[in-house]
Amino acid sequence: MKSLVSITDFSKDEILKTLDLASEFENNPNQNILNNKVVASIFFEPSTRTRLSFETAVNRLGGRVIGFSDSANTSVSKGETLKDTISMIANYADLIIMRHHIEGAARYASEISRVPVINAGDGANQHPSQTLLDMYSIKKTQGKLENLTIAMVGDLKYGRTVHSLLMAMSHFNTTFKFIAPAELQMPVEYKNYLNKLGLKYSEHTELSDNIDDADILYMTRVQRERFSDLLEYEKVKNIYILTNEMLEKTKPNVKVLHPLPRVSEIDINVDDNPKAYYFTQSLNGVYTRMAIITYVLGLK
Ligand code: CP
Repeated sequence: MKSLVSITDFSKDEILKTLDLASEFENNPNQNILNNKVVASIFFEPSTRTRLSFETAVNRLGGRVIGFSDSANTSVSKGETLKDTISMIANYADLIIMRHHIEGAARYASEISRVPVINAGDGANQHPSQTLLDMYSIKKTQGKLENLTIAMVGDLKYGRTVHSLLMAMSHFNTTFKFIAPAELQMPVEYKNYLNKLGLKYSEHTELSDNIDDADILYMTRVQRERFSDLLEYEKVKNIYILTNEMLEKTKPNVKVLHPLPRVSEIDINVDDNPKAYYFTQSLNGVYTRMAIITYVLGLK
């Protein structure tokens, strides 16, 4: 049994095994592997896909779910600490799936908990289960993970999905293009991570001029909830809007991914473009999360 807090908790081999397992679950999505297991799904921050796809995964695996989607209805509102909350829940459940607004909260929980913890997103830090479903989607659409060019677009400063994805794809000789306004550029620690590994990246502020050589166009939302000054958010919120016209000159194999939710950064007319893959990507989350759950519990 092990926790998944950062994507670096999984080796390259474990990542590949999880993706293979996800493929098995896609072929056979109803299996009674979690019989008699209770999974706690505790979300201190809003979520649609992550929470519901994890809970769907548990249900498809024959397990049971307890938890909350709003900590205002729990004893946290009476002042109970995260330490005490996690200790209690670890007494009730076999696995904790947790989203929290504080960076490092999931790592702290994993150090307290006697059952595995899966980080379902901690602030602007990491979102490792999203990364595994992104990689599953990349492998499925490109037929490989090696030697691809990924353009990451939008809020690269606060977007936890791009941080995790960068670290995981660094195992596969990826070339990165970072497309962001000056205020939302990829943090220096992630660029240093790539520098140490000798991986190539370039930085751009224009969208349409810089996507033609990409195999994956990874769009992200500007993370309104992370801004302390909403006037700053207003300045950048509509900085990029991907249109069908922009996709005309892109590679035939390119797929547009987005962790979702979308706000305005992809024109809705793109949804019917064969290059759009974001809704299937979110479906892939169920199979990938089935794989993650069974792997961390040592059941596969
Ligand atoms: N991708 C993602 O984390 O979506 P939710 O916030 O809806 O869970």
